[in-house]
Amino acid sequence: MCGIVGYVGHRNALDVVVEALRRMEYRGYDSAGIAILDGRGGLAVERKAGRLANLEAELDEVGRDRFAGTAGMGHTRWATHGRPTDRNAHPHRDASGRVAVVHNGIIENFAPLRAELEHAGVELASDTDTEVAVHLVARAYAEGPTAGDFVESARTVLRRLEGAFTLVFAHADHPGTIVAARRSTPLVVGVGDGEMFIASDVAAFIEFTRDAVELGQDQVVVITKDSYVVTDFDGNPDVPTQPFTIDWDLAAAEKGGHDYFMLKEIEEQPGAVADTLRGHFVDGRIVLDEQRLSDQELRDIDKVFVVACGSSYHSGLVAKYAIEHWTRLPVEVELASEFRYRDPVLDRSTLVVAISQSGETADTLEAVRHAKEQKARVLAVCNTNGAQIPREADAVLYTRTGPEIGVASTKAFLAQMAANLLVGLALAQARGTKYPDEVAREYEDLAAMPERIAQLLTTMEPVRELARELSASPAVLFLGRHVGYPVALEGALKLKELAYMHAEGFAAGELKHGPIALIEDGLPVIVVMPSPKGRAVLHSKLLSNIREIQARGARTVVIAEEGDETVRPFADHLIEIPSSPSLLQPLLSTVPLQVFAAEVAQSRGYDVDKPRNLAKSVTVE
Ligand code: AGP
Repeated sequence: MCGIVGYVGHRNALDVVVEALRRMEYRGYDSAGIAILDGRGGLAVERKAGRLANLEAELDEVGRDRFAGTAGMGHTRWATHGRPTDRNAHPHRDASGRVAVVHNGIIENFAPLRAELEHAGVELASDTDTEVAVHLVARAYAEGPTAGDFVESARTVLRRLEGAFTLVFAHADHPGTIVAARRSTPLVVGVGDGEMFIASDVAAFIEFTRDAVELGQDQVVVITKDSYVVTDFDGNPDVPTQPFTIDWDLAAAEKGGHDYFMLKEIEEQPGAVADTLRGHFVDGRIVLDEQRLSDQELRDIDKVFVVACGSSYHSGLVAKYAIEHWTRLPVEVELASEFRYRDPVLDRSTLVVAISQSGETADTLEAVRHAKEQKARVLAVCNTNGAQIPREADAVLYTRTGPEIGVASTKAFLAQMAANLLVGLALAQARGTKYPDEVAREYEDLAAMPERIAQLLTTMEPVRELARELSASPAVLFLGRHVGYPVALEGALKLKELAYMHAEGFAAGELKHGPIALIEDGLPVIVVMPSPKGRAVLHSKLLSNIREIQARGARTVVIAEEGDETVRPFADHLIEIPSSPSLLQPLLSTVPLQVFAAEVAQSRGYDVDKPRNLAKSVTVE
């Protein structure tokens, strides 16, 4: 999730833009850049991989006077397409160097657009999806019906783009104008006195103005120092916008008004899953990000290992059910820290799926290296473009959640589950164990989940109330069956790592083999019920388990699908989730557990973003 800022006004644009990028550093990034309209018909651009300090050092090196002007834009990039290098850093320019663009999001149809440009003799200088936009605008401005009209040239191009994007364009011929567009990713206008701002988040301009206007879907805004004009992509001015006054301080602005990044990231989960899925179903086929494994090599696979740690390991446990069901391949899910020490049986026909949000977890990285030594193929599911694990893998599928600041994994976990299912579909597709129409249907089911997650997030207040009520409990148990079992494990991990409360997840069928001895009067037990439309036996057996623990005094908290009335008599607290296909239910049933754990932690007065003893990326074994 990149940071974007545009400015037109009376101040030194370079100072405004660089300071704005600094205020958005919390978003996480791997490169930064600026473009300044110098008012003498020039457009000065500088960009560097790495921290903002690298860019600032470069600006000092070349001389900041080269970047004099009162209009410009800046960008901090979180790489999706193309590694975090100087050449892939934004802004990107057309061949003339007179048009520049910065971008947040994903242009899904960049490949055919890139081919069209290359066919027209345009040489693209980067590996990014973004660059196609600036060449298209430059060409629309140079010739054809919108020649010479900067805004119309931009609108013409915007109508051709598919995906989720915020785009900001600058043109040296128009030094007092910035053009920006929004589809599915945030974009806000900051309305100043004799100056205007455009940004991906209010933290960029909050020190200059608190008057803001949130843009709506498929809208274009043209800013000058005294005006902002909003239209749709066709130029119609009668479009809804959302003026508001920012009443947050900077710290709150960075967290979107939440007290903690984790709470903001829980709310970002619909978009994180949608962005992770976006662009991976092209012309009726599942496509990964980097696939240096042919379909034949995937067909030769006769066994799958999943290696990961913590929540990433739990996402792998969920994936096991779908991958085995769809591909008929045996899937073993292993803790990365155990994997290489047990001398696993690996060979060229083994696929090892390494799941890691950071891409730097030492245990998982060493497991990948061990697998490679044994000639196994490695596919990485990772949230960090250019990290060590994807660099050493044979194929990569990136989750696209943007940086996850909270130590406890939330949006990355849901995105991993979605990505893992894409891997399963890619395997089934390559091996022919699912017909193309079946793959399409599964993808459609998956693509419908972000909306359900968003709907579920609006119903979490009772969960927070329950969490506050139970915050003094000595322990909480979690039960699940089938895909609900890994969810139970994840719910327990969240409570442990955030509220420092003893918690344990069990396969519900295991209760009678020992854990039921733990049940005592008033002990909260959270049960993840499968869909009543799924395997009836799972549902009825779990209902029996609830009766068994309730008979022994447990306080039952049941997560069940809306309309599942059979559980109501046995639930001291019922948390309803939207209906969904059984294999996809973890994308929903996990959410209340995240909210529950965060609220218990807050009730206990703990820092939800920085739990004690934990690091976001465990780079030591
Ligand atoms: C989960 O909330 C933790 N953040 C932790 O278990 C994490 O999932 C684990 O350390 C793996 O990290 P990775 O995904 O970056 O490899």
